[in-house]
Amino acid sequence: MLIKMDVTNAAQIENARYLIEDLVRDKGLNLLINNAGVYIRQSFPDTTEENMLLHFTTNTVAPVMVLKAMFPLLQQAASYTVGMNVCVSKAAVLNISSFGGSFQYKPNNFGREKLLGFSSQISKAALNMAMKNIARTVEGQDILIVNMCPGWVKTDMGRNAAELEVPESVSAMMNTLSLLNQSHHGAFIDRYGETIPY
Ligand SMILES: NC(=O)c1ccc[n+]([C@@H]2O[C@H](COP(=O)([O-])OP(=O)(O)OC[C@H]3O[C@@H](n4cnc5c(N)ncnc54)[C@H](OP(=O)(O)O)[C@@H]3O)[C@@H](O)[C@H]2O)c1
Repeated sequence: MLIKMDVTNAAQIENARYLIEDLVRDKGLNLLINNAGVYIRQSFPDTTEENMLLHFTTNTVAPVMVLKAMFPLLQQAASYTVGMNVCVSKAAVLNISSFGGSFQYKPNNFGREKLLGFSSQISKAALNMAMKNIARTVEGQDILIVNMCPGWVKTDMGRNAAELEVPESVSAMMNTLSLLNQSHHGAFIDRYGETIPY
């Protein structure tokens, strides 16, 4: 079942929650992937308030609001699977973040082109911190919270110069997803599960 949802629209998030609740019933929701994001190139000093706020609203605030709405369903999934170790089959939140949101990570190709991602990088750093905070808050509730970078991928966002085809990125992420456990709670990782420094 596909449900249309603008992640910046509170009414649409609530509508999605009702539909999902009706679908999953007492099993709850075992996996939320916050994937929607924007990246509109604009570096300092050209950056505008509108550009910065669009990124913050979509990339930082929206994942938190979606998680807030789905949280009771994730709690339900965690209690439905009591006895099962923490993993994505139990109750988990995967936030698609970006290495651009790391203060320390500097891959070889992190040149001036990447400085155009000014607002995106700020919003992903804020997303990482928001989810790190939430991971600490829900510690002990058996709900896994992970931030993951998909790599630089040939999508509309990544464009043709990107390093990876979509299937390469997605298959690596899917493989890692299946291996996530309690040790990844609150972590920021790449598509292979390697730690990215915050
Ligand atoms: N591609 C890369 O190299 C790369 C690198 C690092 C991180 N990421 C992250 O990976 C995720 C997916 O990006 P992508 O590469 O697939 O980018 P994309 O090709 O631009 O796709 C972005 C997706 O987000 C959706 N979206 C944007 N705003 C939304 C909103 N308000 N409500 C609902 N959906 C919304 C878009 O829906 P519509 O098509 O309907 O607008 C689209 O499906 C993003 O979080 C991005 O930051 C990508």
